[in-house]
Amino acid sequence: MQPAVPSLDPRTEAVLGELEARSRKEQQELEVLRAAGGTALRERAGSFMLDVGPEVGLFLNTLVRAVAARTVVEIGGSVGYSTVWLAEAVRATGGRLYSIEVDQDKQDEQRAHLTAAGLDAHVELTTREAPDLMPSLSAPVDLVLLDHWKELYVRDFDACWPVLRPGGLVVADNVLIPRKNAEVIARYRRHISELPDAQSHMLALGDGLEVTTKRENVPMR
Ligand SMILES: C[S@@+](CC[C@H](N)C(=O)[O-])C[C@H]1O[C@@H](n2cnc3c(N)ncnc32)[C@H](O)[C@@H]1O
Repeated sequence: MQPAVPSLDPRTEAVLGELEARSRKEQQELEVLRAAGGTALRERAGSFMLDVGPEVGLFLNTLVRAVAARTVVEIGGSVGYSTVWLAEAVRATGGRLYSIEVDQDKQDEQRAHLTAAGLDAHVELTTREAPDLMPSLSAPVDLVLLDHWKELYVRDFDACWPVLRPGGLVVADNVLIPRKNAEVIARYRRHISELPDAQSHMLALGDGLEVTTKRENVPMR
């Protein structure tokens, strides 16, 4: 892949390149597990990156920069691919990234990748789940990435929404692919559509993104 952002630090670019190569190798094995259905993939999830991919990684980086997001939360950091893209952007905005990953082994890898990318100073890694972490953050949140288990999207969206600033964004991955999540994703999208202060768009980038904005001035109904 060509470097997506010409100004990336060579250390950051090297880590992204290494993780993209690993992800390409994992794709074949993932297809077999997905075809098997049931809990096959979930049982092996600890050994896969399950990353957002370069197109979405770059989009997230662009979004953080575009809205000058200073407090960013990632839910589902895995071994750090999306974390590196987000951290690179919060370094540019002078902000801070909080990344939640509940699997300790994955978090150890995530930390090593952030250090190798030269970005560890801009990120706080935690295993505290969103309903516990979000109320403890001192600043309003500008942007949240939801990319963990899909049945937790509604719960964790609700944990984030009260502390998201007006104009802030929640980006949810995997709203189009894999199709096995269609029902749970439909429930998530219905939940958002019922909120008077949410405006949402589905984007066909990567595995599909739902980008939800908290409206600044909610008109009277
Ligand atoms: C799809 S992967 C994340 C991929 C990552 N965003 C990337 O692009 O590299 C989902 C991750 O969510 C983690 N996870 C599961 N439940 C979680 C929770 N309640 N809070 C945070 N992370 C969770 C899993 O351990 C898994 O590593």
